[in-house]
Amino acid sequence: MRKKIVAGNWKMNMNLAEGLKFAESVSRYFNNKPAAKAEVILCTPFIHLGGVSAILENSKVASGAQNCASEESGAYTGEVSAGMIKSTGAKYVIIGHSERRSYYHEDDAILNRKTSMALKSGLKVIFCCGEVKEERETGKHFEVVKRQLENGLFLHSGNEMAEVVIAYEPVWAIGTGLTATPDQAQEMHKFIRQLVNEKYGKEIAEDMTILYGGSCKPSNAAEIFSKPDVDGGLIGGASLKLDDFTAIVEAV
Ligand code: PGA
Repeated sequence: MRKKIVAGNWKMNMNLAEGLKFAESVSRYFNNKPAAKAEVILCTPFIHLGGVSAILENSKVASGAQNCASEESGAYTGEVSAGMIKSTGAKYVIIGHSERRSYYHEDDAILNRKTSMALKSGLKVIFCCGEVKEERETGKHFEVVKRQLENGLFLHSGNEMAEVVIAYEPVWAIGTGLTATPDQAQEMHKFIRQLVNEKYGKEIAEDMTILYGGSCKPSNAAEIFSKPDVDGGLIGGASLKLDDFTAIVEAV
């Protein structure tokens, strides 16, 4: 059965006290409700992760990180390993976000390694892909997403793919207020599912959760999520406001 997911990506926002308070309010909101139709995840900065994971333990909300190291342990000053993330109680890690790809020069080979580290440590991976504006305008978007998935993700086994969620995030839609139309999202999500099918077979492709991300908000979420190959969202800006975030979850 394909799982629906709404994941909040806090990015580099909120200090520790603010983050813990916000996680408490999200947890309280969903714990007082009948089960949501989607799994809800909060992807926080590393600093928040231990505290947030403790708050979310035994709640209906899961925690995750936004990145992990490409190495297992050792002399890598400033890095945080997948094993450390797992030890906080977190279940997920975002890998390959476009901000990591562009500002920190993370290429397909590094992302493949990070994905291996995460899966080896028992984390589930939210693997991001998506084209920049110019690539869409020149009709290269399918080719770009195919390359990102084939070189960064598809070197893993079918069993490992059961622990992976794919997030399609057109870079031109992230934080810009521009969203892909529901039809553009559906077209790409269908293409991604087809790629998974060709590589891993029908069962894995049908079970694969594929999220949309990029200026998702309460006013557009329901329409985007209504498309057959869109299984939820990866939410940036709108995940920092309780009302907006919960409304997006309810839109599933
Ligand atoms: P946004 O970010 O919702 O603020 O556009 C989405 C993301 O980067 O994951």
